[in-house]
Amino acid sequence: MSNLIVICYMVAAVLFIYGLKMLSKPTTAVRGNLISAVGMLIAIAVTLIDRSIVSYEWIIIGGIIGALIGATAAVRVPMTSMPGFVAFFNGTGGLASFLVGWSDYHMHFTRDGYGAHDLDKLVLLLATYLAVLIGGVTFSGSMIAYAKLEEKMGSKPILFKGQQIVNALILGGALVCGVIYVWIPDAPAVYGVFAITGVLALILGVLVTIPIGGADMPVVISLLNSYSGMAACASGFVLNNTVLIVAGSLVGASGIILTSIMCKAMNRSLANVLFSGFGAAEGSLGGGGGAQGEVKALSPEDAYYVLEAASSVVFVPGYGMAVAQAQHVVRELGDLLQHNGADVKYAIHPVAGRMPGHMNVLLAEANVPYEQLAEMDDVNPTIDTVDVCIVIGANDVVNPAAREDPSSSIYGMPIINVDFARTCFVIKRSMRSGFAGIENPLFYKENTRMVFGDAKQVVGALVEQFKSA
Ligand code: TAP
Repeated sequence: MSNLIVICYMVAAVLFIYGLKMLSKPTTAVRGNLISAVGMLIAIAVTLIDRSIVSYEWIIIGGIIGALIGATAAVRVPMTSMPGFVAFFNGTGGLASFLVGWSDYHMHFTRDGYGAHDLDKLVLLLATYLAVLIGGVTFSGSMIAYAKLEEKMGSKPILFKGQQIVNALILGGALVCGVIYVWIPDAPAVYGVFAITGVLALILGVLVTIPIGGADMPVVISLLNSYSGMAACASGFVLNNTVLIVAGSLVGASGIILTSIMCKAMNRSLANVLFSGFGAAEGSLGGGGGAQGEVKALSPEDAYYVLEAASSVVFVPGYGMAVAQAQHVVRELGDLLQHNGADVKYAIHPVAGRMPGHMNVLLAEANVPYEQLAEMDDVNPTIDTVDVCIVIGANDVVNPAAREDPSSSIYGMPIINVDFARTCFVIKRSMRSGFAGIENPLFYKENTRMVFGDAKQVVGALVEQFKSA
């Protein structure tokens, strides 16, 4: 029996890895998700058979409640709320590890204690402590991320004097509690020390997340996701469950890789994201104080004539497309342009929007063919041959200050060079800045035309022009 269980766990682990690999391409991502889910089903089923479970009642009740919540969320949560819900589910993973660590400690403490010191006991003590510490930080940090992304609290960074020092003191306190707990786990006073560790972990999660702005939340989520993997891995050691250790390590490692990819795409260090309070500046620098040149506005009707004559068009979507829910009408315009003989592409910046792959998800929802999607590095080399670039609710990811102005806070961030195209349309509602809170010289360039309005309405008006022509 135990050999069969080991084999099933290995199969589950292979399915996780295979599924994870398939998630890296839009064409295989759905299948990858399914394969990983099958791996998880095998892992759960085998664990239930493996353990000498006394009563299945609570497990069945928990399973039904969990399945109902998961299925309802999957069906009902709109795409715009996905970043927030990813944060929420991430937090529940952290909470699960927190509770596993806590209940295992409680069980040992109230029953036989931990007994004599040896290596196995040391590993168990460390794993229990880490499950509670990392799980607690992940849970409360993810709940703040959820609240910020769902606008249940302000998305601006919350900063106060001595913030780093307070955080360092809390972390230091939690580490001291850890040393005491590992040293003398059976001493009666240690129950309180362990409880303090849990409380400090929860406070720390809140304090390290509040100074981070709404649009930087995706970086934090993937970092917290990585933490939740590490906490799950620690729970695996607590429960002596191989597949939990494997799954936790995979989540931990992939979360760190994603975090680093996002930081690179913004040309910022992780420390800058976590500690600088980026985006704290008022996000509205207004209509070009000190800026360069004249803003040339264009109506959708006039923009139509330019598009009608274009032989190549590149759409560059950003957060505003998600806000306006304009993806379906954008796709309609893309189809009409293609029908009109234009070569149409959708160029996606890795950090456009508010979560990794945000634009890919929205465009996939609108059934934009995968072959029309292009990455920043693929479009930039030939962008000067493009007739019209249509920027739809994007701002920071097309800001030439990142290339031209060494004093800019986004200097060095790779951008889509839409200003190199023959003509550039920028569809947005006003001259307001994007998340970084800085002005965008693109709006004043010779070849830029601003088409002011809500993205869905403006693109809808362009579609109408094509249809009535
Ligand atoms: P932003 O720079 O935030 O700009 C979005 C623009 O959309 C705004 O300037 C806004 O201008 C416009 N907008 C909002 N609602 C609109 C509507 N209904 N119709 C038309 N336009 C609308 O977005 P971006 O270019 O996608 O850049 C993303 C930012 O997030 C970057 O700073 C990036 O570093 C940061 N970030 C992203 C990630 C990930 S993984 N996505 C991670 C970390 C940081 P108006 O108000 O004038 O309309």
